[in-house]
Amino acid sequence: MVSAFRKIELVTGEELDARLLSFLTQRQMPDYFLYLGSTGAKRWLDLARSNEFPIATRLTELLRTNVHSLAHSLPRAIDVVSIGVGDGQKEVLLLKALKERSKVRYFPVDISSHMVNEALEKAADLGVKMTGFVALFEDLPRLQQYWRPPVLLCMLGNNICNYAPEELLSTVFRELEVGDYFLFDCHLFAPQPEEEEQWREVFERAYHSDLNIRFNIGPLMDRGLRMEDCSFKLDLVKVDSLFGQTYRTEKFIEILRETSITIGQSEVRLAAGDIIRMGFTYKYNASQIEGYLQHYNFNMKKRFFSEDGGNLLVLAQKVLMTD
Ligand SMILES: C[S@@+](CC[C@H](N)C(=O)[O-])C[C@H]1O[C@@H](n2cnc3c(N)ncnc32)[C@H](O)[C@@H]1O
Repeated sequence: MVSAFRKIELVTGEELDARLLSFLTQRQMPDYFLYLGSTGAKRWLDLARSNEFPIATRLTELLRTNVHSLAHSLPRAIDVVSIGVGDGQKEVLLLKALKERSKVRYFPVDISSHMVNEALEKAADLGVKMTGFVALFEDLPRLQQYWRPPVLLCMLGNNICNYAPEELLSTVFRELEVGDYFLFDCHLFAPQPEEEEQWREVFERAYHSDLNIRFNIGPLMDRGLRMEDCSFKLDLVKVDSLFGQTYRTEKFIEILRETSITIGQSEVRLAAGDIIRMGFTYKYNASQIEGYLQHYNFNMKKRFFSEDGGNLLVLAQKVLMTD
């Protein structure tokens, strides 16, 4: 039972409602709202397990295949912290492999309280000391007082691609000690120029599956928006990065008819033609990932590609800053 574990809330449900209200007033909805509540958590887990959205299962397989090799590269005593842990399925694979040889403590962190419960429950039988946190990635500076080096900071499930790279890596670098580890995975993307159009269609299809549309507009449907009153849109755009051009998927909800939604006691009125801007996902190639790690003083200790080369799992270590 989850009640047997320590769970600390740095953000409450009321605060998240207030944030959602404020964001929607500005016609924005960051992606972390998608996973909240039992409905949001269920929609994500249904999507992650479905054939319509295979990225999640492929990344799990990549970790499963390489988990023992990873565990052998890590110290005997380690604090495993996972930001955006989701249901913690990957972390259980990792904890099992680490436990064979290490003294481990586990800190699952997620903005979704339901996900933290799931992650704690999934690891309950492992006999590992653990504390869950309901918190945002942005809370890392407040969180790091709870663990001690050496730390393995995990961001799995293509998680790193949902943050601006400079903000993500400078925060992770600042909050880890020299010698701490950073484990992440990502779905790579490196089309030839003539393949670009074809890829655009592949993304359109994958993101416009019924499950994915429901996942994306779910927080608004839970609050009174009808599916027929909006349209979900996705663009694949080219953006500049420190290491050449990269791609980013950007998502929007277009309101088709005047309507309103309710958050707590407040009503948000939406007009036909309103565009609600959502989160984005960067699509890097492998050398861009390598470039960013070097730039932020991380040494790539291990990297594993999936058989088709489309997914990457990286274990990096923070090294002393060089000039
Ligand atoms: C794509 S899912 C990945 C889940 C899991 N790591 C996996 O591999 O299946 C992203 C997870 O990060 C959480 N999340 C999204 N944005 C977050 C943020 N800014 N801070 C903390 N958690 C966040 C979501 O609630 C969700 O559980």
